[in-house]
Amino acid sequence: MKPRKTLIAANWKMHKLVHDAVVYVKQLQQEAGVFDDREVLLAPPFTALPAVRIVMERNDFKLGAQNCHWEEQGAYTGEISCGMLKDAGCDYVLVGHSERRHIFGETDDMIRRKVNAAFKHKITPVLCIGEVLEEREAGKTLQVLEDQLKQAVTGLTPALAEQLVVAYEPVWAIGTGKTATPETAQEAHGFIRKQLAAMFDKGVANAVRILYGGSVKPDNVDALMARPDIDGLLVGGASLEVASFKRIVHYQVAGGKN
Ligand code: PGA
Repeated sequence: MKPRKTLIAANWKMHKLVHDAVVYVKQLQQEAGVFDDREVLLAPPFTALPAVRIVMERNDFKLGAQNCHWEEQGAYTGEISCGMLKDAGCDYVLVGHSERRHIFGETDDMIRRKVNAAFKHKITPVLCIGEVLEEREAGKTLQVLEDQLKQAVTGLTPALAEQLVVAYEPVWAIGTGKTATPETAQEAHGFIRKQLAAMFDKGVANAVRILYGGSVKPDNVDALMARPDIDGLLVGGASLEVASFKRIVHYQVAGGKN
């Protein structure tokens, strides 16, 4: 089994002007320890990408965008292509975040195209999937995860699929302060990994990093990261301040994963 490198991602959403983004990145790079077992991914708004790229000096820090369009170029007012993101220095792009799905009407078909476009430009897609509260209460969580995953990865070769990052983000936990318990998150992550094994093979399933997102905070990070199939985190609100995100980056799992 290949070791999976931890990925701790900050999704700033529609927050921070260019100057604030630059100050944050410089401070975090200075203050955070240097790790060889984890990567730190920062996803600022589009406007701050080039400036953050310039000040991002550490190899364990990566740059990501929060969205992309699937076409190369053309008459798509307001959209940004993966070629443009590559040009701005992005290593990763978030795809299918629930806010994109629910506020902006993104469909599974659009999300599949975005995943493919990202890979075409050698940008790693972070595919976000997750159930809404009504789906959880109706016992449909695993079915929703299976459907969203399948529709997004259909047609990928195993060689590409193993590079994918999946973020499990239960919609009821995002920005609400209601984190999934480590057990609930582990159950979903284990299921996603099983699905990947069934859709591709065990090698792919073991290689794909599966992040948890939804009200991750300094006080719940250690217990989440202790679970075997939680390979990292996608952090919104608690990533906006250096102090809290630094604590999350410095998560500790005593005695290894359980
Ligand atoms: P949250 O957001 O940490 O503020 O819940 C997570 C996300 O939407 O990625």
